[in-house]
Amino acid sequence: MSLPLIDRASDYMPLARERLDEATWRYLQDGDGTGNEHALSEVRLMPRPLSAVAGGHTRLRLFGQDLAHPFLLAPVAYQRLFHADGEVATAMAAAAQGGQQLISSLASTDIQTIVQAAVEGGGLAPWFQLYWQRDRQRTQRLLRKAVDAGCSAIVFTVDAPVKLATMRLPADIRAVNLEAEAHAAVPVEGGSLVFDGWMVQAPTWDDVAWLRAQTTLPLLIKGVLHPDDAMRALDLGCDGVVVSNHGGRVLEGAALSLAALPRVVARVAGRAPVLFDSGVRGGRDALVAMAHGAAAVLLGRPYIWGLASHGALGVAHVIRLMRDELEMTMALTGCATLADVTAQVLDAGQPL
Ligand code: FNR
Repeated sequence: MSLPLIDRASDYMPLARERLDEATWRYLQDGDGTGNEHALSEVRLMPRPLSAVAGGHTRLRLFGQDLAHPFLLAPVAYQRLFHADGEVATAMAAAAQGGQQLISSLASTDIQTIVQAAVEGGGLAPWFQLYWQRDRQRTQRLLRKAVDAGCSAIVFTVDAPVKLATMRLPADIRAVNLEAEAHAAVPVEGGSLVFDGWMVQAPTWDDVAWLRAQTTLPLLIKGVLHPDDAMRALDLGCDGVVVSNHGGRVLEGAALSLAALPRVVARVAGRAPVLFDSGVRGGRDALVAMAHGAAAVLLGRPYIWGLASHGALGVAHVIRLMRDELEMTMALTGCATLADVTAQVLDAGQPL
């Protein structure tokens, strides 16, 4: 299969659109992702010519794992909607590029099969993204499946207590790792579907404390924007946080994740890695997030554009393009390694 001339990850977007039916395309692009994208693209950088950056690299160590670059593939549900190879293609691409992938609770492929694809491809055992499953027993059974399959970290997504596909799924695609009915809200006679239905089965901070005790794997909380929430997660024993507004897909008008990032980073004060997502569309955006204190970034829609149009090859190419652009941006701002990417690279970070 030949790739058309593509030099940015976003060049895959129109290709994906051509290949997906309208309902799937809408499901993918749902929400307001543009606020995050603009916030990142508006940040100005300070060029630092003549810096000695030869021999530089984008490597990092995260939760004991060595990664070739800081682009993790975010948990995205039902990937077989976008390509027949679905999550397996994503696993192969992440492995081939020396990176990491988060398997969604709503994956359309068996967890074990995805982990196997990653490991056989020479990659790391993936992380697992956990959605609360109505009660502790069900949640524990899902967690156990991920741990038994060999997943190497757990990322508990807390910003979307009520999240199911917002489209009608084809008959052959479903969340195969979940127990049937785990999410059906029971309408209460005369009550509120939200407060007496969905929220009765939603997790609270007590459940985070409980979850912490259920696994010795690194545990991250995904979907916090308030510094108090980040600190509470760490106080309960979590090992990291992902500052994210879910790509603008859950709370309409939610704070932008780039606005939240420096506040969370300041409060966390180096106690644990802070990861970032929502709106990263190029390597330059990743540098901006890291200059604001992120340890790494997660990609959502961009790699799905690659997946939809060219399967594993498309995902791998998206990651490679991101990395190339990050390297170029690092070189131009005088950074040889990710440790050099600090507020110093920002125009706004210059001493007066
Ligand atoms: C998501 N996201 C998501 N997050 C999560 O924790 N579990 C999930 O199952 C899903 N599913 C999902 C489906 C689709 C189609 C999209 C686009 C997103 C959110 C995802 O992990 C990530 O936070 C955002 O996608 C990041 O924003 P960008 O990069 O898409 O702007």
